[in-house]
Amino acid sequence: MSKKPIGIFDSGYGGLTILKEIAHQLPAYDYIYLGDNARAPYGSRSFETVYEYTLQCVQQLFSMDCELVILACNTASAKALRTIQQKDLPTLAPQKRVLGVIRPTAEVVGTYSKTKHIGVLGTTGTINSESYPIELEKLFPSITVHQEACPMWVPIVENHEMNTIGADYFVQKNLNSLLAKDVNIDTIILGCTHYPLLLDTIKKYLPTGISLITQGEIVAESLVSYLHRHPEMETRCSKGGEINYFTTDSTENFDAAATLFLGREVKSKHLAL
Ligand code: DGL
Repeated sequence: MSKKPIGIFDSGYGGLTILKEIAHQLPAYDYIYLGDNARAPYGSRSFETVYEYTLQCVQQLFSMDCELVILACNTASAKALRTIQQKDLPTLAPQKRVLGVIRPTAEVVGTYSKTKHIGVLGTTGTINSESYPIELEKLFPSITVHQEACPMWVPIVENHEMNTIGADYFVQKNLNSLLAKDVNIDTIILGCTHYPLLLDTIKKYLPTGISLITQGEIVAESLVSYLHRHPEMETRCSKGGEINYFTTDSTENFDAAATLFLGREVKSKHLAL
């Protein structure tokens, strides 16, 4: 059988936090990771731009024989997923599928909170799209949601400034601002796949009694369930246990960062889009 890897897409390094868990829970499959590092961050870009870039990357992954693509990026999931699923897929590749990270996160988060007051941290794009409040309202109508955009967090991660006083300043600032909106928040969604890379800093400023939700495990579990429910897709995905990495920017930078994030050596290839 020719390789039909599962495509994992992010604007940059953040999706590696999702890939890590997916490959851990589903090691048999082949994967292609694509980071659009040359154009990251996406977080403050317009709807049209995020949609255009994301569609381009999805088409690229389709051309590399991916039958199934995961948008391991909240910003792309918030701003591009629905249009790609409803408008583009039916004409472009009716048999292929593109899934996101917001719905699976919203599906489980209601079960974590006791107070039913939830906080969401994300990029400006994700927060302004209101995707989390909309999804949570549909699934758990009694939940109260407060959000906070953290426009500096992704640039901090993309520039490897996680363990600096600059990171401390912005993490503390945004966390305090979110918690000041509602004293009853007991659960915070890290609604950006880059944010787990700031976990140590976030935990430093997080009051006790508040749980943090990261998405890696949740998205991986949701993919396990998806493949179980969709045998027609499951059988189309090849199983060679291979992961290939592609970046639209410098492979040297990508390899150094990805090796750090994943804790194993990564050798990426360059892709010009
Ligand atoms: N990892 C992306 C997300 O989950 C970051 C978006 C960006 O590039 O700003 O939203």
